[in-house]
Amino acid sequence: AHQWRGVIREYADRLPVTESTRVITLGEGGTPLVHAQKLSELTGSTVYLKVEGMNPTGSFKDRGMTMAMTAAVASGAKAVVCASTGNTSASAAAYATAAGLKCAVLVPEGKISMGKLSQAIAHGATLLQVDGNFDNCLDIARKLGESYPVFLVNSVNPARIQGQKTGAFEIVDSLGDAPDIHVLPVGNAGNITAYWKGYKEYSAPFESDTAGTLPAVSTKTPQMWGFQAAGAAPFVAGHPITEPDTIATAIRIGNPASWDGAIAARDESGGFIDAVTDEQILDAHRWLSAREGVFVEPGSAAGVAGLLKKHAAGEVPTGKTIVITVTGHGLKDPQWALRTEDGSEVQPVKVSNDVVTVAAELGLEEK
Ligand code: F0G
Repeated sequence: AHQWRGVIREYADRLPVTESTRVITLGEGGTPLVHAQKLSELTGSTVYLKVEGMNPTGSFKDRGMTMAMTAAVASGAKAVVCASTGNTSASAAAYATAAGLKCAVLVPEGKISMGKLSQAIAHGATLLQVDGNFDNCLDIARKLGESYPVFLVNSVNPARIQGQKTGAFEIVDSLGDAPDIHVLPVGNAGNITAYWKGYKEYSAPFESDTAGTLPAVSTKTPQMWGFQAAGAAPFVAGHPITEPDTIATAIRIGNPASWDGAIAARDESGGFIDAVTDEQILDAHRWLSAREGVFVEPGSAAGVAGLLKKHAAGEVPTGKTIVITVTGHGLKDPQWALRTEDGSEVQPVKVSNDVVTVAAELGLEEK
């Protein structure tokens, strides 16, 4: 029986590793590409969700972290550091544990979900809440990486982008070709950079470090449609934002590290980067849970929010194949599920301990 071996071993001939590399993996990747029935009906295109919440720590970050931690070990590092809005820190903490390395994570105070905070702590990372936002945390982490004996595992490390490009490979391998449109949330912009790299590499012959020239796998590349939260949309503004704000804490970022990569992905693919409001994000979050059966964290719903926005404007073509990456699991930040459209808290209905009362409450009549 075949067991998925993690993205490095599955795609070794397209990654900077060799036979003798000590691979740090938790079995990441191989995530489901789910047909989104209701989004497909609505748009008249075939829409799929790449459900990245199914990775070992519950987000797409694991694809990059297996590469970053493998590179850290190869470099002889004893400790790694990252800045994070939560998912990177959860992933770094888990993979550092697997590698036997110390891990320090810098997170913005108060603006990180309890689920993500718990993961970093559970995996034994040293967690520091910085009196500042993500962009401030990343500045400090970069300086630590430059001037102190710690290995930086943020996506400014090219190993992270290498690992994350495998998301595009898996989609092409599942569909038999690249989709027409790829939609995803944009925060620090590592992921849009990585997907575009993956799609480009799969659409042309590839010079492998270990396996010679590999033939093209896809006949085309998709348009890249990126969506930011309206209060944290530097690509829409055209410049960094000093005080980014959104309920989607995962993408509360004003000064994205992979600026040039995102601009290249947007322009080379003929796509765009637009913004969605917090309200549109929460509507899309509800759409995914209640209509598709897929539970994501709010930031992960930004891509779906964008597709719904573009559909409402009549700007989504019919008859195309569209893939939306939903980046992190709903259990990361479950509080938003307990909020109704009008903002009130959902209260579970309490019933007494007998079948007649429960049946009555459910509106059932005895058969
Ligand atoms: N979705 C989720 C759930 C995220 O956690 C992030 C980024 C993104 C989307 C945006 O991806 O940064 O590659 O453009 N989270 C980072 C973190 C910043 O620290 O966990 P991006």
